[in-house]
Amino acid sequence: MKADLATKYDLRVPRYTSYPTAPHFTEAVDGAVYRRWLTELSPDLDLSLYFHIPYCDTLCWFCGCYTKIVRRYEPVARYLDMLLDEIDLVADTLGERFRARHLHWGGGSPTLIEETDWQRLIERIHARFDVGPDAEVAVEMDPRDTTKKYVNALASAGVNRASIGVQDFHPEVQKAINRIQPFDTTKRVVDWLRHQGISGINMDLMYGLPYQTTERVVETVEKAVRLEPDRVALFGYAHVPWMKTHQKFIKDETLPDFSERWQQSEAAANRLVELGYVRIGFDHFARPDDDLAVAHAEGRMHRNFQGYTTDTAPALLGFGASAIGSLPQGYVQNTQPLRTYREAVTFADFATERGVALSDDDRLRRDIIERLMCDMTVDLNALCKTHDMARETLNDGMKRMEPLTEDGIVEVNDGRVTLTAQGRPFVRLVAAAFDAYLNKGEKRHSKAV
Ligand SMILES: C[S@@+](CC[C@H](N)C(=O)[O-])C[C@H]1O[C@@H](n2cnc3c(N)ncnc32)[C@H](O)[C@@H]1O
Ligand code: SF4
Repeated sequence: MKADLATKYDLRVPRYTSYPTAPHFTEAVDGAVYRRWLTELSPDLDLSLYFHIPYCDTLCWFCGCYTKIVRRYEPVARYLDMLLDEIDLVADTLGERFRARHLHWGGGSPTLIEETDWQRLIERIHARFDVGPDAEVAVEMDPRDTTKKYVNALASAGVNRASIGVQDFHPEVQKAINRIQPFDTTKRVVDWLRHQGISGINMDLMYGLPYQTTERVVETVEKAVRLEPDRVALFGYAHVPWMKTHQKFIKDETLPDFSERWQQSEAAANRLVELGYVRIGFDHFARPDDDLAVAHAEGRMHRNFQGYTTDTAPALLGFGASAIGSLPQGYVQNTQPLRTYREAVTFADFATERGVALSDDDRLRRDIIERLMCDMTVDLNALCKTHDMARETLNDGMKRMEPLTEDGIVEVNDGRVTLTAQGRPFVRLVAAAFDAYLNKGEKRHSKAV
């Protein structure tokens, strides 16, 4: 039954790490708007800071992230100088020294940053923001770049959570994605991290990659669990070669078809649950005593550009080329090309290129979509009341949900929308029913499952 649904709903919808989603940002939000939004923030507001490092030393062919391949360190060092300038510009605009509760380094590969530069960056962040001892400091890590000395430098910089890219352990799959990463390479990094007291360990696994089979995906899950990560993210490969041209190195005929993708994701999820992980949202798993699992159980989980999170900070500031920020007033995104980012920062200007100011309707739908994505259930009446909006506003969404209700994906009772057990993997489709922008542009998204 579920596989039939998977075939029927081979639709492309966003992953809803924001609402409205990034393709609907416009140039109406520029540096001047961002400046104003920053000055409007109250100094008692907690911040979350995201730093984007758009460099890697080799290109994984599946990669959907914004990154550039470099053979020398010099461009990275120059980029870090710009990042420092941007930190100063934002902090000067804020005026006061705001508290930062979460720091997240993503990419690309932040593991390319040299040890002395880590020190330089962290010192500047501490000088300009009040980073408490209880702050979460998370880094996305490519184990292939990581040495023991490097892990020591991360620990000295206060890093306490590592998100490790694994994808798949099978050699044939690794060859087909141009990412050779033997199990021992990952294991030794995990050992070094634990030895240094960096105890929060996430692992990124993928399904839907070339030459993956259900058996191979389950084997990868079992090997990953031997390393005892607190959290596992299980991403479906988003094959978008019209946007990411290097994905053309991955031939369509080597990819699992839709029902195979479906089986891989379900088999991996079931195995993770058998091995003691709690299923969270549509692509995350955590040990039951992990903060994310506890936040999930208590309905306190959130979703942002890094995926599912315990982060409750009302403002997330993004630094670096392409970085996205989320403020109470709306979303802002920095320019992506490194040249234009450099030009802006060199002239002590914001690199903001696009964004969206939230309307009342956006805020209501954003909350509905976030609760659905996090809790798999949402009380529409309660949220309409909180937002002081008429229930009729959501008539379009209710209409779009009808086929999903008929197919047993979702149930509606007294204004409460709840995903059924078999419907959970389709949560993006239910969220999309409430997306007022979805059919306004001709954007192509990755598969919903
Ligand atoms: C931006 S990468 C950063 C981590 C680090 N660069 C690495 O690869 O080890 C974060 C994760 O995004 C996921 N990812 C990258 N490209 C993807 C794609 N096309 N579809 C789905 N997930 C993808 C991978 O699981 C990857 O580990
Ligand atoms: S998956 Fe990670 S390491 Fe590979 S190219 Fe993308 S960002 Fe770089």
